[in-house]
Amino acid sequence: MTIAGISLVLILGSVNLVLVLFQVSTGKKWLKINFLWHRRLGLVLLLTAIAHAVLAYLSR
Ligand code: HEM
Repeated sequence: MTIAGISLVLILGSVNLVLVLFQVSTGKKWLKINFLWHRRLGLVLLLTAIAHAVLAYLSR
C-alpha cells in the first residue's frame, strides 16, 4: 500500500521514530510540555506501531 508512491509501512515507521523520540524527551522532562500530550501521544504511538507491524507483515 502506498501514498504518493511512498510505502505506508515506511511512512508509519518514520512517524513511530519521531513519536518515540518525543516520548523519551518528554518522559525524561528534557522537553517541557503539558504532560497530557505525553500520555495521549504514547497511546497514538501504540496504535501506529501496531498498524506499522500489521501492514509490514501483510506486505511480505
Ligand atoms: C511508547 C510510549 C511511551 C514511551 C516511550 C514513554 C517513555 C517515558 C520515559 C522515558 C519516561 C521517563 C521515565 C524515567 O525517567 O524514569 C516516562 C515517564 C512517564 N510516562 Fe511515559 N512513555 C510512553 C507512554 C506513556 C503513556 C501511554 C503514559 C500514560 C498514559 C505514560 C505516562 C508516564 C508517566 C506518568 C511518567 C512519569 C512522569 C514523571 O516522572 O513525572 N507514558 N515515559
